[in-house]
Amino acid sequence: MLSKAVQNKLNDQIQKEAYASNAYLALATWAEGENLPNIAQYFYNSAEEERQHMLEIFKYINANGGTAHVEGKLGKVRDKFKTVLEAFQLVRDLEHGVTLSVNELATWCVQNGEHATYFFLQAFVLEQQDAERKVDEILTVIERMGYEPRNLFYLDKQFKKINEQAGTM
Ligand SMILES: [Fe+2]
Repeated sequence: MLSKAVQNKLNDQIQKEAYASNAYLALATWAEGENLPNIAQYFYNSAEEERQHMLEIFKYINANGGTAHVEGKLGKVRDKFKTVLEAFQLVRDLEHGVTLSVNELATWCVQNGEHATYFFLQAFVLEQQDAERKVDEILTVIERMGYEPRNLFYLDKQFKKINEQAGTM
């Protein structure tokens, strides 16, 4: 049975994962509007991943005698970007924010003797390391290929590969 304190912490993390999922959906809408279908697909996939993270925590709470919930208001997400670079800088900040909160939660679990939840969170800790590395790699690709209007067709095509690679991992 999960303590009330750990339930509250995990529920807070659920809101962050749900917010991240919404933030990616806003990015998908932006990319569709810019005629960047493969980049849009990358954001749809990311939105789905964040929703899966949210669900994992949700089910963990409910399966261990707690009560999981999603709040009605998750906060406004950004939906306007000047360039692809700016959009992915937001992704980097978003993922970094999630990393900090996952790490903080794991530290809290150790300090408060919540060892089972600490172990449960290990996958999330590693997942965030992966997410940050991935976005850094993408930022390098964007900087090297360029993101001026004339480069966007090729940059978007590059995301077809990135999406396929992610699908096979
Ligand atoms: Fe996540």
